[in-house]
Amino acid sequence: MDNIKIIKEQLLKDLQTIDTIKKLNDLKIEYLGKKGKITTLNSTIKSIDDDKKKEFGIKLNDLKQTFNTKYKEMYEKLNQELINQKLESERIDITLPATKIKYGSKHPISRVIEEFEDLFLSMGYTIYDGPELESDENCFQKLNIAKGHPARDAQDTFYLENEYENYLLRSQTSAAQVRAMEENKEKGPLKIVCPGKVYRKDEDATHSHQFMQIEGLVIDENVSMADLKGTLELFLKKFLGEKTTVRFRPSYFPFTEPSVEVDISCFKCGGKGCNLCKQTGFIEVLGAGMVHPHVLQMCGYDPNKYQGFAFGTGIDRFTMFKYSINDIRTIYGNDIRFLEQFDRRDDNNEIK
Ligand code: DAH
Repeated sequence: MDNIKIIKEQLLKDLQTIDTIKKLNDLKIEYLGKKGKITTLNSTIKSIDDDKKKEFGIKLNDLKQTFNTKYKEMYEKLNQELINQKLESERIDITLPATKIKYGSKHPISRVIEEFEDLFLSMGYTIYDGPELESDENCFQKLNIAKGHPARDAQDTFYLENEYENYLLRSQTSAAQVRAMEENKEKGPLKIVCPGKVYRKDEDATHSHQFMQIEGLVIDENVSMADLKGTLELFLKKFLGEKTTVRFRPSYFPFTEPSVEVDISCFKCGGKGCNLCKQTGFIEVLGAGMVHPHVLQMCGYDPNKYQGFAFGTGIDRFTMFKYSINDIRTIYGNDIRFLEQFDRRDDNNEIK
């Protein structure tokens, strides 16, 4: 009997030291576990005298009940404390301003490339992708520019070394024409545009050592200069506006004969003359011409059966026109302040 009393007093003392659920559970094991203090008392009941058994049983039950009630009370108290702590630490101040979500945006060059591609796709062209590392043959020789030809001067630039000395970073997307013609096994009609990077040794406000061109090539029977003119006029007016005047001037390119340079009326002054068009009223934007029969032949086409026209233009210049950018270096500078100016959502909520 005394034991029960001692254990009860001990239990009440122990309970006062409990301040976590873990400690409370350890206490349960200490009292009610296999070798726990109360469990051990249970097994002593056999050795108790019969007349005292009843009283012992009642007291033992009372002890167990005390334990259970105290345990329950304590558990609920500690658990509530835990919940309160969590609520406090995860409190959100809904009056604080929300963090602004930052959206990336398409680079202005990519926007113009996509616009060009859409225009040409709508005219039945396919997009052709040529490599930036090109052979001397494709970049020059098969375009009628033999070794030592003066037309190489401006473009004879980034060559590789040693066993790859015949390769260079392409200086013009015209090289893609050669590939497209050679890859076309049937040697039938072709209608492609190839946008991509090209490299030259230039570097100033309007020239960069790396820039973007788009090259077009159409091959078929009965293709004439009239098709070339019509196509380019359509393309330029669609991109720059119907009011644009397009002017063709005779020129020279080794891979096209006859060749032309194409000017547009200055969109800034409307042709009156300003600093952008250097008082001429026109801005040169394109090189083009009828594909030279030598080029057709070197790329496996029969020049007696097929004719073609080709054109090439700089994408950077059109981007500069479109977005009034006056230094080409800002396009490639990766300055976030420049790029953020294009960080806008279009009407249909798509990020373009
Ligand atoms: N490849 C020329 C350049 O980089 C541009 C060009 C001129 C392309 C005449 C052509 C062309 O296809 O016929 O300046």
